[in-house]
Amino acid sequence: MHLYPYIFKRRSTRRYDMTPLRESQLQDIRSFAKNMRPLFPAIRVEYRLDSNVRNILPVKAPHNFIISSELKEGYLENVGFLYQQMDLYLSSLGLGSCWLGMAKPSGAVDTHLEFVIVLAFGKPKDNPYRGPEGFNRKALGDIASGNDPRLEAVRLAPSASNTQNWYFVCDGGEIHAYQKLLNPVKAKFYDRFNRLDVGIALCHLYLATVEQGKDFNFTNEGMPELEGYRAIGTVG
Ligand SMILES: Cc1cc2nc3c(=O)[nH]c(=O)nc-3n(C[C@H](O)[C@H](O)[C@H](O)COP(=O)(O)O)c2cc1C
Repeated sequence: MHLYPYIFKRRSTRRYDMTPLRESQLQDIRSFAKNMRPLFPAIRVEYRLDSNVRNILPVKAPHNFIISSELKEGYLENVGFLYQQMDLYLSSLGLGSCWLGMAKPSGAVDTHLEFVIVLAFGKPKDNPYRGPEGFNRKALGDIASGNDPRLEAVRLAPSASNTQNWYFVCDGGEIHAYQKLLNPVKAKFYDRFNRLDVGIALCHLYLATVEQGKDFNFTNEGMPELEGYRAIGTVG
């Protein structure tokens, strides 16, 4: 499945036809989930599909990935990286999806792993696509230094409340990824989400790297510090 083009047209869907998808399509979705590439292969991640979640915001979808993970260093970036592949796959099927940071599982989750986040999906009531003019994003110069053609895909990544609290530094063919640190009041709410967000942006960087016919090599060791930011990792 060629996911890259959907980076440039996907949008979050918040209104769904509540008719469940065909079992054969759900089977395709489960098969795709088995083959998603992790950022940190040593971290165990599981999901359960549920038609119900508790959500204080009025977004209701017929299907939800209830995503759980081992709590190891980098687990939030890993979940963002993995399930953004799913978000784009669902988009490629003409379906709608939306990350739901405020939603919780409706019942006990039968796993030893920790619940992380919900990704809702189903048949969209509205057009799940948009043109380039439909993206409300920061300018490249505000989220990156240096030039790399892969950065446009990164710039368009979705983030919690569209915060885009990330920064990318081009350095001799490599790209260093950082998370912007916030004041304690904002960080209490957004720090966790923003780590997922950087994982999501790294997923777009992964697809843009593969699109160029290059291997995607990621390391979270030995990268330069940047004041006011948390160092997340370097892409070769
Ligand atoms: C980690 C994360 C959590 C999110 N939580 C919610 C949420 O609880 N409710 C919601 O309606 N949208 C949520 N969103 C969707 C964002 O608001 C949306 O991605 C952002 O505004 C950019 O819009 P776009 O996805 O249409 O490009 C979340 C997105 C991310 C990445």
